Amino acid sequence: MNAPQQPVLTAATTEFMARHNHRMLIGGQWVASSNGQTLEVLNPADESLLATVPAATEADVDRAVQAARQAFEAPGWAKMRPDQRQRLLLRLADLIEANARTLAEIESLDNGKSVAIAEAVDVALSASYFRYMAGWSTKIEGSTLDVSIPFAPQNEFVGYTRKEPVGVVGAIVAWNFPLLLASWKLAPALATGCTVVLKPAEQTPLSALYLAELVLQAGFPEGVVNVVTGDGPSVGAPLTRHPGVNKLTFTGSTEVGKLIGKAAMDNMTRITLELGGKSPVIVLEDCDPAVAAGGAAQAIYFNQGQVCCAGSRLYVHKKNYDRVVADLADHANALTIGHGMDPSVQLGPLVSREQLDRVCGYIDIGRQQGAEVVAGGGRAGDKGYFVKPTVLAKVDQKARVVQEEIFGPVVVAMPYDDLEQVAAWANDTPFGLGASIWSNDLSRVHRLIPKIKSGTVWVNCHNMLDPALPFGGYKQSGFGKEMGRAALDAYLEQKSVLMMV
Ligand code: NAI
Ligand code: MG
Repeated sequence: MNAPQQPVLTAATTEFMARHNHRMLIGGQWVASSNGQTLEVLNPADESLLATVPAATEADVDRAVQAARQAFEAPGWAKMRPDQRQRLLLRLADLIEANARTLAEIESLDNGKSVAIAEAVDVALSASYFRYMAGWSTKIEGSTLDVSIPFAPQNEFVGYTRKEPVGVVGAIVAWNFPLLLASWKLAPALATGCTVVLKPAEQTPLSALYLAELVLQAGFPEGVVNVVTGDGPSVGAPLTRHPGVNKLTFTGSTEVGKLIGKAAMDNMTRITLELGGKSPVIVLEDCDPAVAAGGAAQAIYFNQGQVCCAGSRLYVHKKNYDRVVADLADHANALTIGHGMDPSVQLGPLVSREQLDRVCGYIDIGRQQGAEVVAGGGRAGDKGYFVKPTVLAKVDQKARVVQEEIFGPVVVAMPYDDLEQVAAWANDTPFGLGASIWSNDLSRVHRLIPKIKSGTVWVNCHNMLDPALPFGGYKQSGFGKEMGRAALDAYLEQKSVLMMV
């Protein structure tokens, strides 16, 4: 493991981190929690205290929802022209780019991920998503319809539909891509004219607070974006129950997603749920084993495996199984583990001690259930939450490590015989978020794609996301889509108008 280095931070990061005790944003004001309580934010690479953030109370959540409601109805936002919203979103995208290094540093310190990857992936995708959604601000449209009402044949009608912003959005996000997940919620909400109360994950609240500063700098009216910090039960849950919230959008565990879905129904709050996964990587007979192993390593070890669509199950045709698994183990063993601020590091720490324990616990369960550990197999070092990139081979399809989301750098690898069998196994978990197929055999690939029950199927790549492509889960991986045109509808109500003329 690489020794920690003294990171060289931008002046803006230094200034931001030197504040130590952060405030949250409600109605344009930077405030402490109403009861003065705070939460500690740790650096997962060395377990040091980075900062504190307010531990918001139910009263703070209520104030934030009210501020969002006022902003939603105030002429400054409600009467803003679409092209003005577009301009604000473009300005925000520019500010994200201008602050790219700072945002990446904050993300790396807070989450543990590589600063270089954070800048190239998390920050770049966030900016491009705001830009993509900015374009939609001016392209929200209904339709005109000729009606045929059988009992009013003498009358003439004009019928049309219009789309209207759903209102106040409660957005709750996880810690694996803190800035990017916040952007996935904010961009469509703002493009459609909604207002937002954002709750970042308690493990990683800092980039959302920095982003909120950029939102104000971009010129969004006060109260359009509010950020409340705190944990799930005391801040997330009140937000999901709040009758003043019109739509909830959540990224996190399937377990909490179900709780949110149930809470939402009490108020008929609209919901989008982006949940867990156990995405298969399927290597067909014709695929070069070296290509397959490189692809599989990327699919699972990117972001320490803390990716909802991580390729955490590897199915290789039996002909090439041993070769691919051996190559994958070599890739795993070659990865440089260390502090995310070190530019040579490829694998940072997991986000928290809880995740460290959980992931190591799963590796032990795998061993107990007969898996062969061909790479990694536990914690790396004794300071920071590092886990060695792990390959578990020849695991039974019904084993817990094959069925459950581990959310760490752990892949299970299984050989298969034919296309029917691998399709059945690929679909044999409660999840359905992503899948990748590795092959140039077009006919097999096309036969397989319709059989796979997941929201995304990649071919010869994995974890590739684009703002224009809808992303979301089948089965217990979620409900509704993010990104693409499909995401807009989740933030819009549709009104039918019928006029007798
Ligand atoms: P989590 O689902 O509990 O946390 C995600 C967000 O939900 C956080 O902001 C949290 O504060 C909030 N939350 C928690 N309980 C809530 C409640 N009752 N009401 C409203 N909001 C609530 O995820 P956690 O505990 O951090 O991780 C546990 C496991 O969940 C991971 O090991 C992983 O398997 C899975 N997970 C999956 C993610 C994905 O993208 N698929 C992201 C994060 C976690
Ligand atoms: Mg939890």
